[in-house]
Amino acid sequence: MVEAWYLLEEGEGPGPSVGLSALRKLGVCYWKLDADKYENDPELERIRKEKNYGWMDIITISKEKLPNYEEKLKMFYEEHLHRDDEIRYVLDGGGYFDVRDGADRWVRIAVGKGDLITLPAGMYHRFALDRRAYVKVMRLFVGEPVWTAYNRPADHLEARAQYVQFLARSV
Ligand code: LAC
Ligand code: NI
Repeated sequence: MVEAWYLLEEGEGPGPSVGLSALRKLGVCYWKLDADKYENDPELERIRKEKNYGWMDIITISKEKLPNYEEKLKMFYEEHLHRDDEIRYVLDGGGYFDVRDGADRWVRIAVGKGDLITLPAGMYHRFALDRRAYVKVMRLFVGEPVWTAYNRPADHLEARAQYVQFLARSV
């Protein structure tokens, strides 16, 4: 099971845990896969086919491997949204996806090897590495990838309006 919890104020430690069904209500999808066989995994292929995740690449985020590491991490940790789903499959290492719940509270989702997670278009989120300072992820996309991040506030975007509507119907 993926672990998620509410982020409290700085220095207060982790808040109440958040279950998979609560995450699903926010539009977050999650699968646990065997990352050791990502190169030849029928389960992954099934998901890709079903969800139309035709495009993929693999990136490593670490000081050694990622050009402009500090700058990129800073960008990832800025609260933002995308016009498309963010689809990530962790092959090694790990990190945190922080997402906003329906009441605008931060929920921290800890991901590690084997976690395939999707954040819906229009959801405010950010990403941070954990103490390992290393993650190897497969990025998946429906069609040609667009990585544009819209930092908050981005409430004027259609993707945001649609997500807000989705949230209103899902509670
Ligand atoms: C991204 C993650 C870091 O936009 O949110 O790639
Ligand atoms: Ni993002």
